[in-house]
Amino acid sequence: MAVRFSNVSYIYSRGTPFEKKALSDISFEAEKGDFVCICGKTGSGKTTLIKLVNDLLRPFSGEVSLDGRSGLLFQFPEDQLFAPTVIEDVMYGPLNLGRNKDQAREGAEKALLCVGLGPELYDRNPFTLSGGQKRLAALAGVLAMKPSVLVLDEPTAGLDFRSSRSLMALLHRLNTDGVTIIMVTHEMELAQEHAKQILVLDKGRLVLSGSAGDVFSQRNRTVIEKAGLELPEPGSSL
Ligand SMILES: Nc1ncnc2c1ncn2[C@@H]1O[C@H](COP(=O)(O)OP(=O)(O)OP(=O)(O)O)[C@@H](O)[C@H]1O
Ligand SMILES: [Mg+2]
Repeated sequence: MAVRFSNVSYIYSRGTPFEKKALSDISFEAEKGDFVCICGKTGSGKTTLIKLVNDLLRPFSGEVSLDGRSGLLFQFPEDQLFAPTVIEDVMYGPLNLGRNKDQAREGAEKALLCVGLGPELYDRNPFTLSGGQKRLAALAGVLAMKPSVLVLDEPTAGLDFRSSRSLMALLHRLNTDGVTIIMVTHEMELAQEHAKQILVLDKGRLVLSGSAGDVFSQRNRTVIEKAGLELPEPGSSL
């Protein structure tokens, strides 16, 4: 087991007039080496769920268990990047884990190579990169910490077709190497192609879970449509 949610609920601004129940009674388990896609329309609780995986939020009730170290790629890379240069940004994680400067630099260079960002970008201010490059730099920063559970919030949002494909190929490779992946996506075709397990959220509730074949079967059409999603086109894949 890499991640386990047992009857997890989360409420924002509890006890105020803005109180909002974002997740209700969520239970699921991700095995080591699993590839979980979390689907659901805007506001269904996806980001809240993965913040609970990464300890950025604590459940109101229920229990979240994590085996190993998780790393989160935020929904917006601007929320993640902060250092004056790309290389310093990516070195921050390893340095924080107690690596010395040389080890951190080596780890950062490996991570940048892994995401396909070359040395010509090391000294650039991360905020001057293109949208796609920013996301890759943020991902390198997460990978440099060598998480055993990699959590990604809409990692392909805003990427063109080729960049999206190459990012998914990278995630696929990491997953084959044993990294557990938990990915939020709006794109049902991506979930269909890559997920070993799909979770569908609707208004903070887990309404479907299982393999792509199970979740995207015709008998679930009504539940999927009620959740604001569509069944992937038969035979389609990105
Ligand atoms: N900081 C907050 N304070 C109060 N309510 C919040 C807060 N963050 C999120 N919510 C509410 O919790 C619910 C779930 O939000 P969440 O961000 O988890 O949705 P999401 O599925 O990630 O949506 P999106 O696809 O738009 O990213 C929404 O109704 C949202 O308005
Ligand atoms: Mg979100």
